[in-house]
Amino acid sequence: MTTTAGVATSIRVTPVSASRRREPGTPQPAFGSVFSDHMLVATHRDGQWRDIEIVPYDQLSLSPATSALHYGLAIFEGMKAYRTVDDHLVLFRPQKHSERLNRSCRRVVLPEVPEALFMEGIRELVRLDREWVPPSDEGSLYIRPLLFGADDTLRVKPAASSRFVVMTGPVGGYFSSALNLVTSQEYARAFAGGTGDIKLSGNYGASMLAEKEAQAKGYATMLWLDAKEHLYVEECGVMNVFFVIAGKVVTPNLSGTILPGVTRDSVITILRDLGFSVEERPITITEVIAAHKSGQLTECFGTGTAAAIAHVSAITHEGEELTLPAVGRREIASAALDRLVQIRAGRHPAPEGWLVPI
Ligand code: COI
Repeated sequence: MTTTAGVATSIRVTPVSASRRREPGTPQPAFGSVFSDHMLVATHRDGQWRDIEIVPYDQLSLSPATSALHYGLAIFEGMKAYRTVDDHLVLFRPQKHSERLNRSCRRVVLPEVPEALFMEGIRELVRLDREWVPPSDEGSLYIRPLLFGADDTLRVKPAASSRFVVMTGPVGGYFSSALNLVTSQEYARAFAGGTGDIKLSGNYGASMLAEKEAQAKGYATMLWLDAKEHLYVEECGVMNVFFVIAGKVVTPNLSGTILPGVTRDSVITILRDLGFSVEERPITITEVIAAHKSGQLTECFGTGTAAAIAHVSAITHEGEELTLPAVGRREIASAALDRLVQIRAGRHPAPEGWLVPI
């Protein structure tokens, strides 16, 4: 076993005896519903990561007292592997995901995952399940690292033992059409001093009722406003949000209640590289409405790993519906998506560190 900085980096691999993979060419399944043959598992105990293994994808055996289940000690990441046009496998910006995972760890006092373990574990896992990565024009392999407190006690305290699990699965698109969003004066996703800027599993649970009520009224998802004044736009659904106002791209700045999305960062970089002006600053729903009234709101879109870029068709705020121009006229979001797709497929040079070979 090799050891780096006290971290066992060698990974025991138990391969499946027969793959469950479907025939190539079958359409990608609904997002997150099919998992590749293997998963990575590791345990943190007594200050060390141990029992690092890649095993056949299977159930986890957990005590009913597992602290993650009771006290929400669970964080995750969402990242992707792509097959380039010349048939190489790459991870998209994995270091960024590793850094963000560890930020999330620090916030909820879970043990950090050393970058070497994160990177090597995921590379080895994807290498083993390489046949599951769809062709570049069909989709990608979604990678879901999950870290949770595994203490077998109901006492409320930081976890003394934790589990790290990484599963993967082939995915196509996340949304099938442009999204109509609705704001809420009642619910909020995040608040100052809270956990909106990390990928805490509970953030998603806390947004479920608002989403359900919005969907019952025919909306696709939420346009989240700040918790205090219900005035500042923060995110949309499970994505960061962008507007195009008078030809300039505007997205909420990372104020502490907003997730620092890797796709958000990539889209900002790409748009600036394409020559567009991108402002990261507070933006109120009042400004969005005024821009719509004056005809200056030409685009709105969400960004995230799962969806990449999702166009927004309409925004409803306190009963008033703002309808946006047809998706066919979304010049800026389409240019960003096109460049992102080209980079991931290896058709356009990637900025340093964006594509990491498997
Ligand atoms: C992602 O875009 O990867 C996300 O984290 C959203 C999700 C919870 C599916």
